[in-house]
Amino acid sequence: MIENIITPIPINGELDHSAPPIIDRFGRSFNYLRLALNEQCNLRCIYCMPEEGIDFRSEDKLLTTEEIFRLIKLTSKMGVSKIRFTGGEPLLRKDLSELVQFAHQCEGIESVHLTTNGLLLSKRIEELEKSGLSGINISLDTLDTDKFKKITRRDGLDMVLNSLQKALASNIQSIKLNIVAMRDFNDDELMDFVELTKDNDITVRFIELMPFDSHQIWKTGKFYGADDIVADIKKQVDALKPIDGSRTEHHIFRVNDYKGKVAVIPAYSRSLCGECNRIRITADGKLLNCLYSQDETNLRDAMRTGKTDMIIKEMIYGTMKKKFKDGWEAQKQGNDNRESMTQIGG
Ligand code: GTP
Ligand code: 5AD
Ligand code: SF4
Repeated sequence: MIENIITPIPINGELDHSAPPIIDRFGRSFNYLRLALNEQCNLRCIYCMPEEGIDFRSEDKLLTTEEIFRLIKLTSKMGVSKIRFTGGEPLLRKDLSELVQFAHQCEGIESVHLTTNGLLLSKRIEELEKSGLSGINISLDTLDTDKFKKITRRDGLDMVLNSLQKALASNIQSIKLNIVAMRDFNDDELMDFVELTKDNDITVRFIELMPFDSHQIWKTGKFYGADDIVADIKKQVDALKPIDGSRTEHHIFRVNDYKGKVAVIPAYSRSLCGECNRIRITADGKLLNCLYSQDETNLRDAMRTGKTDMIIKEMIYGTMKKKFKDGWEAQKQGNDNRESMTQIGG
């Protein structure tokens, strides 16, 4: 049974800096907002989308620039200090730099990040850096051209590697690589990725495959669990030092005196839920209190029907308060019919 705890709200209406933080029934507080900017993508990764794409929502269903500004401003006053733009592929959205700049200049926001497939990044790095971007996570599952084509169903490895180089040469503080780890696909490349951390200040992160795709390829024996990934890295590297990382980087190490870091994200095993600090908003403006949530709160329609900031704020407090203990509990509440990760924003 979910408690209905009413969070105190300033009586005289609009938000001010005294708004209390967002806290759930288990004492977790939420300071990290992940905002998906679109569902479209210029790749077709086999674990994410069917070749023909999905039934993408039309543009009028997606949040507008002004609506996103409003949500950033509003949540920044509720204790959100970190923003990540995801997608789909956020670089396909024309207002990305404008959004980064707005978030960067918003009082209370300490860092602004982007998760991208890197294809269109190289040309935009300078502009994004000027807008105040603090970090970029680039998705790249293989360093082999043929495998890249197999997994993404497109060409483009050179473009992604070029973007990675430019990102590393920029003044953007945090550069990470996201590698979805799969058996018999890229498990033989663990060490190639680890070696990238030798001379580069980069975090390479191996991610467990999750069941968010219409083809359910995670059921085909490709699943490679976080504990096995860690064990396999340890077999090949002697001097792994445990260090600190972000909340998703549940296992994180540095090899010897290497410049970068190596992390493993138990996205499917969900051993990271106790540490969860994330709020998600989908491209069409639905608030999710968990990546595995079966429930959505429609902030877009609330904004479009003229609800005040105070009401929207109450919707956010209420939804986050109802968050389940972990992603397993959250998943149990429904029948899991998402066709693609782009409908959640990762
Ligand atoms: P940092 O802020 O750099 O740590 O990035 P992040 O890991 O929060 O974000 P990113 O978009 O790079 O996501 C990396 C992987 O972690 C993706 O596969 C996400 O789906 C997964 N992930 C992110 N947040 C969560 C979460 O709350 N739960 C689970 N289970 N997986 C998550
Ligand atoms: N399982 C695990 N990770 C996934 N991503 C997309 N779909 C899946 C999935 N089914 C990853 C992308 C990107 C991040 C936002 O989510 O590779 O790095
Ligand atoms: Fe948080 Fe849900 Fe992800 Fe667990 S699965 S870390 S509760 S978002």
